[in-house]
Amino acid sequence: MRFISCADYTAMSRQAANLISAQVIVKPNCVLGLATGSTPIGTYKQLIEWYNKGDLSFAQVRSVNLDEYKGLSGDHDQSYRYFMQNNLFNHVDIDVANTSVPNGKAEDADAECAAYDAHIRELGGIDLQLLGMGHNGHIGFNEPADEFVGPTHVVELAQSTIDANKRFFASEADVPRQALTMGMAAILQARSVVVVVSGEDKAEIVHKAFFGPITPRVPASLLQLHPNVTVVGDEAAFSVLRKEGCL
Ligand code: F6R
Repeated sequence: MRFISCADYTAMSRQAANLISAQVIVKPNCVLGLATGSTPIGTYKQLIEWYNKGDLSFAQVRSVNLDEYKGLSGDHDQSYRYFMQNNLFNHVDIDVANTSVPNGKAEDADAECAAYDAHIRELGGIDLQLLGMGHNGHIGFNEPADEFVGPTHVVELAQSTIDANKRFFASEADVPRQALTMGMAAILQARSVVVVVSGEDKAEIVHKAFFGPITPRVPASLLQLHPNVTVVGDEAAFSVLRKEGCL
């Protein structure tokens, strides 16, 4: 596991974008696993900037997103499909037909999950998986639980996740209670993983996830077993790592 410590959010975003950009340059038709949430927004902005400068093309890139709220259609402004269109896809030359986000409106959510895993397999797996991390150590919407779940699946959102995400909805009651999420298998099988973390409020969980015991109570801790993980964080997110002498 590598740690790249950056002065601030902007520098962190630039470093993460560098890693993604290197992947796209080395393998133009790579499969990118993408994340939503507030942390990667700066990374996407940087990628868009480099695309606009002519330094980068997504023309052949295929993408699979981690998760989607159950019950939200892609045109709902809080859906993760909508997020991806607005924060990346609409601004670069990626072919939307080559992008995948689980369908939150699928009539049979379990069948949608199985089809999502089959699609990832057909693509040949994920070359680079970008991840954010929740305050409880969730990745995708793999919430703390008694066991790790391998396949893409429907999950009940933890109250802490509902609380963290309610700022994006009119009220807490509007936050969907379930989501479709890639499971730990596709994430762990990704050939490389880039985790972005920012802010003091992530400092404790960053330490717990990457230096604590590997446990489904902290889903991101499973990444300790992955051979190619890069954690890109700002000084605030790495403050406990530094205090504990881990860096
Ligand atoms: C998003 C996702 C989530 C977020 C996590 C952190 O697709 O899967 O795991 O990465 O909730 O969110 P932020 O970046 O908003 O702190």
